[in-house]
Amino acid sequence: MTKNLIVIGDCRNMAEIKDNSVQLIVTSPPYFNVKDYGTDNIGSINEYETYLRAMRQVFSECYRVLDEGRYICVNISDIISGEKKLPIPCHFVGILQRAGFQYREDILWKKPSGLGSSKRFGNRILNPYPMYYYPNNIYEHILVFRKGKFDFKKITKEERATSKIDIEYAKKHWNTDIWEIVPETKNYHPAMFPQALPEALIKLYTYEDETVLDPFLGSGTTIKVAKSLRRNSIGYEINKAYLDIIKSKIGYKENSEFEIIIRGDMSE
Ligand SMILES: C[S@@+](CC[C@H](N)C(=O)[O-])C[C@H]1O[C@@H](n2cnc3c(N)ncnc32)[C@H](O)[C@@H]1O
Repeated sequence: MTKNLIVIGDCRNMAEIKDNSVQLIVTSPPYFNVKDYGTDNIGSINEYETYLRAMRQVFSECYRVLDEGRYICVNISDIISGEKKLPIPCHFVGILQRAGFQYREDILWKKPSGLGSSKRFGNRILNPYPMYYYPNNIYEHILVFRKGKFDFKKITKEERATSKIDIEYAKKHWNTDIWEIVPETKNYHPAMFPQALPEALIKLYTYEDETVLDPFLGSGTTIKVAKSLRRNSIGYEINKAYLDIIKSKIGYKENSEFEIIIRGDMSE
C-alpha cells in the first residue's frame, strides 16, 4: 500500500517534509501571469522579477527536501506576456543551478504537429516577406536537474528487479530527448499535464516504494500516476477549491493510504 499526502498550502514553505526525504520531484509550475488558477498564487504575480523570486524560494525548498543523487523535473515553456516573449525556461536554469542542482537534461515535450493546423495555433506563416516569422510553438521543456551524485550501490537486486523498465517501450518512446506526447484535452483544471509525462519520469527516475513530490499539484495528476506505479507521493496545492477535483482524480478514500493537511491559513 502506498502513502499519499496532500497539503493545501503554499509550497514556498514545505515544512511538512523532512530534509533529503523525497526521491523525485515532478512538477509543472504556474506560468507567469497567463492562466487563472482562481486564487492568489505564484501564477497571479504580475511582476516578472517577483515571480522569479517566488520560484527561487520554491526551488530552494525543493533542494532541501530532495534526497542526495536524486532528480527534479520541471515542465515549463516560454510565454507571451503583453508585447514580450519571456524565456522562463532559461531563467529557471539559472535559478535551479543557484539553488545547488546540477543540469542533466533538457527534454523537449513535442505536441503532435496536428495541433499546428488548428485555427488558433496553426498557419502562423501568413506573410511572404522577411520579418514576419512567428513560428507555431509545439513544444515545452522538461528541465531535468540532479542534487549531488547517485549511489547505485544503495539499491538492492530485488529493488532493481521490481522496478525494471520495459526496455522495448523505452527504446520506442524515450530513446531521444524529444518526447511526443498528446496534451491533456480534459479541462476540469486550467493547465493539467498529460499522465504520460509524470509516468515516464517516475519510471525512469524512481524505484517502487520511493516518494514523488509535486509542489504544484493542480488536479492531482502526479499523485494519481505515482500511486498507480506503487510509489508514495506528496503534493502541494494553494487553491483549496481544487481539493474535490484532486480527491476524485486520485480515488481518495478515508483510509491510511491518504492524508490531507489543510494549513491553518487556508481554512474558510
Ligand atoms: C500548471 S498547474 C499544475 C497542473 C498539474 N500538473 C496537473 O496536471 O493538474 C499549477 C498549479 O500550481 C498551483 N499553485 C500556484 N502557486 C502555488 C503555490 N505557491 N503553492 C502551491 N500551489 C501553487 C496553482 O493553483 C495551479 O493549480
